[in-house]
Amino acid sequence: MGAYEAAYRSALETPEEFWAAAAANIDWSRGWDQVLDSSNPPFYRWFPGARMNTCHNALDRHVAAGRGDQLALIHDSPVTGTIRRYTYAELLDHVARLAGALSALGLEKGDRVLIYMPMVAEAAMAMLACARLGAIHSVVFGGFASNELATRIDDAKPKIVLSASCGIEVNRVIPYKPLLDGAIEQASWKPEGCVILQREQEAAQLTQVRDHDWQEIINAAEPADCVTVAATDPLYILYTSGTTGVPKGIVRDNGGHAVALNWSMSNIYGLEAGDVFFTASDVGWVVGHSYIVYAPLIHGCTTILYEGKPVGTPDAGVFWRVIAEHGARAMFTAPTAFRAIKREDPDGELIKQYDLSKFQTLFLAGEHADPATIQWAETHLGVPVIDHWWQTETGWPIAANCMGLEPQAIKYGSATKPVPGWDLRALDPAGAEVKPGEIGALCAKLPLPPGSLPTLWNADARFIEAYLDDFAGYYHTADAGYIDEDGYVYVMTRTDDIINVAGHRLSTGAIEEVLSEHSDVAECAVVGAADELKGQVPLGFLVLKVGADKSPDAVAEDVVRMVRDQIGPVVSFKTAIVVQRLPKTRSGKTLRGTMRAIADGTDYKVPATIDDPEILDEITDSLKEAGLIT
Ligand code: COA
Ligand code: AMP
Repeated sequence: MGAYEAAYRSALETPEEFWAAAAANIDWSRGWDQVLDSSNPPFYRWFPGARMNTCHNALDRHVAAGRGDQLALIHDSPVTGTIRRYTYAELLDHVARLAGALSALGLEKGDRVLIYMPMVAEAAMAMLACARLGAIHSVVFGGFASNELATRIDDAKPKIVLSASCGIEVNRVIPYKPLLDGAIEQASWKPEGCVILQREQEAAQLTQVRDHDWQEIINAAEPADCVTVAATDPLYILYTSGTTGVPKGIVRDNGGHAVALNWSMSNIYGLEAGDVFFTASDVGWVVGHSYIVYAPLIHGCTTILYEGKPVGTPDAGVFWRVIAEHGARAMFTAPTAFRAIKREDPDGELIKQYDLSKFQTLFLAGEHADPATIQWAETHLGVPVIDHWWQTETGWPIAANCMGLEPQAIKYGSATKPVPGWDLRALDPAGAEVKPGEIGALCAKLPLPPGSLPTLWNADARFIEAYLDDFAGYYHTADAGYIDEDGYVYVMTRTDDIINVAGHRLSTGAIEEVLSEHSDVAECAVVGAADELKGQVPLGFLVLKVGADKSPDAVAEDVVRMVRDQIGPVVSFKTAIVVQRLPKTRSGKTLRGTMRAIADGTDYKVPATIDDPEILDEITDSLKEAGLIT
């Protein structure tokens, strides 16, 4: 039996022993009473009774063990032309001071903190400072607009907001403060204070009494020590798209999270303390939480926090420059970034300009990795390219090629095998396992391993309804796919209304809610249309009210602006077309799948349940008229 098989079986057959062994690599101030508490299913808790601090495990313990002079974090920012390096000792000092400043503002264990920041080192410091105090952070991605921010403020009820004066996109500065002020005005919950990092590209106007200047409060602060928390206490809430406009607050605990992430660094990513890891994502996403901030630091690695794009900052060679300059051993990003690079540098000429001798593995996740992109990267980089599959909910990979454990042969189109700890099955609608190679609902048998969500923030019932009700005893991933005879996992498509735009997870339902707000829109539907670069982009279909005030073009323009203003530019919602009617089943269900097939130009069967098949020709004509299909 190989090392992967042995670990997989052991994690399934004796999970408590398996995870207790992994937990030995984390510092605890009190041991657990039980490894796993299964007394209140479906709510399982890992390491109850144990006490620890995540920030201590990410910083203090490494300094104490002699890693103080090793680089912990490198902020590489081509958009500002700066690179800043922090050793473990320096990062600890910054974080302890920020924690001291927040404590002086009254922040205590269990309080929530909303972090709305660009990709600067202070964003990671903010997360770690909250962890240090036992406060619960909720990071909101900078590409979301005021409305989304307000929803999260009302749900998380933060005492303090940490933000910056601006973010920087390729060639424009985005003032964050007006978006934050707008959100606070809109929200019913009012935070007590905001701490604003002033960046030199754009200073923010501070609101008297409520707002504090980041640097000023740091200058006046005493460093704060770690506050010990229960392993089961929440470390953070991360909101992710649900099937409605109300996002789900994914809760992550402290103990199980630290154990699972630390285990994943050596066993999945094949990295040891001292190695350099480059994850090109954003701290606003789970990938950024887990593999820019927490996992590399808990594991004693050097992490690169990159403020830029794969192309245009300044060119498609920037990832190779970063890898070479900082000696990265592994990189992690979304396939869309590689599609962008491949489009600009199809022959990989820019790769040849850099010394990538230390680089060993490329990991891709966040969306389906198309074989053409994987093969391009393999050919030009000359390293294994590993597709792996996970979700905000799981916090770390469900299926992967565990490079540190025992690399498996690569099968294109597959995220390889379930990671130890994940009892993954493809199920039919009745909950029976389908045959190998047949598509089913991908579900993980409960209890889930450490690190995965214990529940949703203040919403236990929604947690059960969203993930556990469909298949008794299983967590339903909402991805459909199959497992082949060799145990390889193929993730095919979401079974809900989530679409994946440039690796960003968005709800078409939430976009539809915005479109319906237009006074001239009678009905609407949004589908994810195939896009060469971003994988999918949202496409809106509008039916106007009889006697609509505005012209179809004007309404289409309005709704594009409304989505950008209300949800944010990250949605990449650029096209809405007006149609006479939407195709529906006789029971009134909108046939979004058929509309998507028409927009993608793929073959489709006219659904037997369709109310009026002629509508499909009308939709085809409208898309042709709009120049979206030929
Ligand atoms: N703050 C404000 N605006 C932001 C933003 C942020 N943090 N991030 C993105 N935006 C804006 C962009 O400027 C863009 O605005 P535009 O419509 O005015 O051009 C819009 O949101 C869409 O952004 P993006 O999806 O990044 O598209 P892009 O065309 O700028 O770049 C890629 C395309 C492929 C290069 C880019 O999506 C990318 O690098 N993806 C990497 C994938 C990734 O990080 N995934 C995370 C999960 S691993
Ligand atoms: P997020 O919660 O934003 O990380 O998005 C999770 C979703 O992205 C999953 O449910 C999948 O639909 C998709 N996804 C992530 N990784 C992969 C992958 N390797 N292959 C296919 N889909 C993926």
